[in-house]
This record gives sequence, C-alpha cells and structure tokens, in this order.
Amino acid sequence: MKSFSGLLLAGVAAAVPTSLTAEADAPAAAIKCPIVFDGRIPSTLALSAFDSSGSGSPFGADYVKGNDLKWSDILLLPTVPTSRFDGAVNGTATPFKAVEVTLSDKSIFQKQNGFRRAGLQFNGDTNTGSPGWTGIKTLHFSVKQDPQRPLNLSHEYLNVWHEASDYSADQIMFQTGTLIDQSGLPKNTFKVLSRSNKLLWSTPMDTSDWQNFAFTLDFNKNTVQVYYSKGTDPLASVLKATADDLTGAGEYQIGILKKPTGTSDVVNSGFQESGLKEGQIYGGIFLEDSANGCVSL
Ligand SMILES: *[C@@H]1O[C@H](CO)[C@@H](O)[C@H](O)[C@H]1NC(C)=O
Ligand SMILES: *[C@@H]1O[C@H](CO)[C@@H](O)[C@H](O)[C@H]1NC(C)=O
Repeated sequence: MKSFSGLLLAGVAAAVPTSLTAEADAPAAAIKCPIVFDGRIPSTLALSAFDSSGSGSPFGADYVKGNDLKWSDILLLPTVPTSRFDGAVNGTATPFKAVEVTLSDKSIFQKQNGFRRAGLQFNGDTNTGSPGWTGIKTLHFSVKQDPQRPLNLSHEYLNVWHEASDYSADQIMFQTGTLIDQSGLPKNTFKVLSRSNKLLWSTPMDTSDWQNFAFTLDFNKNTVQVYYSKGTDPLASVLKATADDLTGAGEYQIGILKKPTGTSDVVNSGFQESGLKEGQIYGGIFLEDSANGCVSL
C-alpha cells in the first residue's frame, strides 16, 4: 500500500472492508528483484498460445506431456482470484492469471507407462548452462486446489522440481500425497525434499486458499531456503538456508507427475486409476535473481 498516495489510500480504506475474504484477489505484490524466467501468464494469453513457441507462452511447447496431447488439451485457465504476484502492481501493468495443469489417462510421456505427467518448462531454461542454475536464484510459485479435479493423495505426486542434466537426481522436490519411500509422512501435506530425499519442510495442503512458496537456491554455498505464506499474506522464511547438493545443472519443471502404486519400477509399471480427472492450479510462477539477498516477499 506504500505505493498509493495518502489521499488515495484514505479513499480506498473507506470503500473496502479491512479484511479480505479467501476468495478476493491478492493485493498486487511487487517483484523487487530482476526476473530471470517469467512464468506468469498474461491475462490476455489464449490457451492455444501454449501449443507453439513464439506465441507468447512463457513455457516450451514440446515438453513434458502426454504423447498424444497438446498443451491446450492439458492446461486450463480457471476463473479464480489472482495469486500474490499476479496482480497489476500500481494498477498500471497488465495483470496475470492462473493456469491449471491437468492429468488424464492420456498423460503418458514417451514410454513411461507408470507415470501420469505434465510438466511446464521455462523458455530459455537449458539442460546445461542455464542462467537459472547459477549464483543465487529464488523460484516462486503459488498453488491452489481445484475441487472438481482433486489429487488422489494415496499416490505420490511430484509437482515442482529441478532435475539434474544427467537425469540421475532431482536437486529439489516439491511433493504431495503418499511418498512411496516415506509412507509414514502425512499424505495431505506439501513437502519440500532435498536431493537425498530428506524432508526439509512441510505444510498442510489447503483446499481453498492459495498457498505461496519460494525456494532460494544458493549455488555457491549449496543451500536451500524456503519461504511460505497462505492466501494474500506476504512470504516469510520458514526454513533457514539448509545444505542441499545443487550441483549437476538441469532444468526446472512445474506441473504434476503422479507415481503409480504397487511397483518398484515406478517409471514403467504399477497401478494408475483409469478415468483420471485431476489438476493443480498454479499462479505467480517466476525465477528471480537473489544476488545480494534480494527476495520478493
Ligand atoms: C509502484 O509505485 C511506486 C511509487 O511510485 C514505485 O516506487 C514502485 O517502484 C512501483 N512499482 C512497480 C513494480 O512499478
Ligand atoms: C486413489 O488411489 C488408490 C490407489 O491407487 C485407489 O485404490 C483409489 O481407487 C483411488 N481413488 C480414486 C478416487 O481414484
């Protein structure tokens, strides 16, 4: 609110109730650090833009998705309140909107019959030499649940992660559901895991509000710091910089990867329900440069 003049602020305060409901747009929060990859969806962008490069989509058109699907079959543009970093700051710039990644029975990538998956990858994020994997960077995203397309938390989901360039490991993982190797953890939480599958932090999944996350990745020190908030609140640090091996380059992926049950070969076999209708809503996706400790809250 600092950006408004005193006069305008007084007028706004008189007209708007002081507490916003869960369904209100978040007050626009400014991104204060340089953006490296901008995955926010301009409010004017059509679904068809995701199907080809150069059409204004922030993400690659070819990966990672079901072989017989186009992104316009997979993604939805749900009518939901804007998330924390999607509003028009100062009422001038174009606002951004949410995007939903869905899974269906056709969400089979290559020959990976065990998984159901769809993952967005930033334009310009390359498997080696990516500007997103040097120095100190903070990955931001917000998630919201679609009551029409609930995730089945009896399964393990990998929703946001970074996979090393040789595909041997994920350096950081944002997950939910029942983790196959750590089934004692509650299923209805979002979990942040390190490269060695160590639980770094978790929080209950909220079925109505936006939940806002940011991971500061320090490639010089090999640490991860986690920031979190719910609804329209500013982010707060919830995990101080903690050791994690971030070496090995690779790419970010944002979407859903649903693992099967009942198998030790999750990529290729196991059980998946048929008639899948699942989704995860995302907003405010971007990677910012956190050199000198800059993090947008
Ligand atoms: C919003 O306006 C304030 C005051 O004019 C300015 O300091 C700030 O940089 C602006 N923010 C953006 C993102 O343009
Ligand atoms: C959720 O997954 C479990 C394990 O695969 C399955 O038994 C159950 O039927 C699924 N539930 C729904 C609603 O699909």
